[in-house]
Amino acid sequence: MFKIVNREVMGDGTIIMNEIVAPKIAQKARPGQFVILKANETGERIPLTISDIDLEQGTIQVIYMVVGKSTDIFKTLKVGDGFQDVIGPLGKPTHIEKLGNVVCVGGGTGVAVLFPITRGFKKAGNKVISIIGSRSKNLMILEDKMRAASDELHVCTDDGSYGHKGFVTDILKDILENGKVDLVVGIGPVPMMKFVAEVTKKYSVKTLVSLNPIMIDGTGMCGCCRVSVGGKTEFACVDGPEFDGHQVDFDGLMKRLRGYEAEEKEAYNDYCACRDKK
Ligand SMILES: Cc1cc2nc3c(=O)[nH]c(=O)nc-3n(C[C@H](O)[C@H](O)[C@H](O)COP(=O)(O)OP(=O)(O)OC[C@H]3O[C@@H](n4cnc5c(N)ncnc54)[C@H](O)[C@@H]3O)c2cc1C
Ligand code: FES
Repeated sequence: MFKIVNREVMGDGTIIMNEIVAPKIAQKARPGQFVILKANETGERIPLTISDIDLEQGTIQVIYMVVGKSTDIFKTLKVGDGFQDVIGPLGKPTHIEKLGNVVCVGGGTGVAVLFPITRGFKKAGNKVISIIGSRSKNLMILEDKMRAASDELHVCTDDGSYGHKGFVTDILKDILENGKVDLVVGIGPVPMMKFVAEVTKKYSVKTLVSLNPIMIDGTGMCGCCRVSVGGKTEFACVDGPEFDGHQVDFDGLMKRLRGYEAEEKEAYNDYCACRDKK
């Protein structure tokens, strides 16, 4: 069992942070990598990004939004409980180097994925400007950690309840218009990453995105996580999850993510009905 030693409810209560004892994974984990977790023997395999590590405690941190049956089951786990299985670190780490000016753009729970990458680029000696956004103030996460990991931080909300009223791309356009940018890293909901890549393409600025297709084994065997990048089929679990945002077929990814919507809804409704009866 992989014991939970710290748990925090974030945002509006739908976002949960778990710190999990997994010393071997903590030792090897690099920014951009993820784990696959199972809550119990019959549980579904769920991929979540490693948002931080503590080498002294031998722990990894994951931050997830409750969106369906499995994440709702994860939410029931308290400090002292544990996940039956945690596999990782999986995926290719982010290629971090000194480039000059790096802009890190995060949306929603994508900020949890972006944080270790932002910190890595800052540590490598880059000037890092970060932009984080959420639908509303109560869904904003990791603002303090992102501020500490960046030279400059901009915050935005769709509804204007905090920071700039509007999208992260509004601020990104201003930054690209007014200075030299060597790399943009955009991580968040698929439509957000698509728009970030569209904006940066106009300025010919290299852009990394982190893709989240449905995954099963996470080791390149099932083919479930296939994505089209530059017209070539890639497996996000072993070839990614990061890819060149200017080459990704985002519409194809969105279509595949919706592929099991009816079944996911049914599974969640059945689970909620059983849970509420107890
Ligand atoms: C590499 C990677 C890293 C991720 N990191 C994070 C993270 O740090 N924080 C976070 O909140 N979410 C992250 N996700 C998304 C997370 O895995 C899904 O939200 C979760 O699987 C939903 O499961 P569910 O049963 O609760 O919901 P469901 O009702 O089953 O599904 C809701 C939606 O989640 C997605 N999904 C469902 N099953 C899977 C699966 N096996 N693999 C991937 N996506 C699935 C689909 O888009 C689906 O429509 C990541 C996904 C990937 C691929
Ligand atoms: S999850 Fe099976 S090949 Fe990537």
